[in-house]
Amino acid sequence: MNKIKVMTVFGTRPEAIKMAPLALELSRRPEFEALCCVTAQHREMLDSVLNIFGLRPHYDLNIMEPRQTLSTITSKCLNGMDCVLEEAKPDLVLVHGDTSTTFAGALAAFYHKIPVGHVEAGLRTYDKWSPFPEEMNRKMVGTIADLHFCPTVTNRDNLARENITKGVFLTGNTVIDALQTTVIKDFSFTEKTLNCLDYVNRKVVLVTCHRRENYGQPMTNIMTALRRLADSFPDTDLVYPVHLSPVVQEAAHKYLNGHPRIHLIAPLAVDEMHNLMARCHLVMTDSGGLQEEAPALGKPVLVLRRETERPEAVQAGTVRLAGVEEEIIFQMAAQLLSDQVEYDKMAHAVNPYGDGKACRRITDAIAWHFHASETPPEEFSGR
Ligand code: UD1
Ligand code: UDP
Repeated sequence: MNKIKVMTVFGTRPEAIKMAPLALELSRRPEFEALCCVTAQHREMLDSVLNIFGLRPHYDLNIMEPRQTLSTITSKCLNGMDCVLEEAKPDLVLVHGDTSTTFAGALAAFYHKIPVGHVEAGLRTYDKWSPFPEEMNRKMVGTIADLHFCPTVTNRDNLARENITKGVFLTGNTVIDALQTTVIKDFSFTEKTLNCLDYVNRKVVLVTCHRRENYGQPMTNIMTALRRLADSFPDTDLVYPVHLSPVVQEAAHKYLNGHPRIHLIAPLAVDEMHNLMARCHLVMTDSGGLQEEAPALGKPVLVLRRETERPEAVQAGTVRLAGVEEEIIFQMAAQLLSDQVEYDKMAHAVNPYGDGKACRRITDAIAWHFHASETPPEEFSGR
């Protein structure tokens, strides 16, 4: 039997974290020839993930530039993918989520008349400007894709509203598969700051912030609220691994540098990040991935955005939308840092996003689609 040639394409840190377990699962299965192409829209932050998972890409477009624009990323990915697809001729291209790499990877495959599978399909805010440009990226990929791997029922319903009902599979999110391999009870951090923190007697707040729509005033508001929190709660440490984007670096260092209880550190390797999350008290973030991981670890999350495409954990009560206004962010965090009852209401583990078997379901679905298996994949049963 001819093997099904499946190429995973990704470029940024979150795509890598969520695609690495899938790429590894594909390479373990005899039905597939697994190929991996990275655009390297991120360089250092991507390489860190590849190292942790021991994944060696077959193709590396190495496109990253300092302060790259959306057009540059998209055009460099498209041009680079042309040669790769011409040479490799995969039977299926798998892209993930909503980045510029995701969109360009799907478009390049379409131009080469190669079927596309969309991992983490069906997330929507219905606001094309927020998150920007991600909402539009995932809608455009949803239009191009032949196979849609939805983490949740909500995501599948979103696609159904757009009349996308064929080739749709309910799988759970591969991020939970990744999380199950990284969190370890006696983990020892290589980042020195993290080994020195007192996670038992003090409150450690994990912060990340990087979204393009938060650049400018929203980011200033967020940073100011964080500094006020550090000033007001002497029993609290804020740990902020700062994204390598120069815009984010400038804002974080301008507003938060030099405070004895604010620890600005380099981006963490994913295993360090997951183990920090497992030990922290509270998460404040505009990240998509953290909104999925922290609830699974029983950590309350305040989302530093006006909306979220991940309503499941909000409904479950472990995530709250804090917005991007200084006073509201400060008040919502202050309440959780001072009111144990309010904190306990949020601090329970929920797993609406997956059960650690998403990669198996996705590979089963691909095998079934290509007639290499007679059984359809089982569905993820969470909501
Ligand atoms: C990108 C994605 C966003 C995702 C985020 C995850 C797009 C449009 N945006 O945003 O959806 O949430 O990744 O982190 O696809 N940089 C480095 N080294 C790195 C990574 C980034 O120096 O390893 C710097 C570079 O100067 C780069 C800049 O960060 O130009 C911005 O990177 P870019 O991928 O354009 O945007 P992100 O904000 O990271
Ligand atoms: N992450 C990491 N190190 C960090 C910050 C984040 O490994 O210093 C991980 C995090 O656990 C999650 C993913 O990166 O799995 C989220 O990436 P990011 O916030 O950059 O992007 P988003 O999810 O918002 O697209």
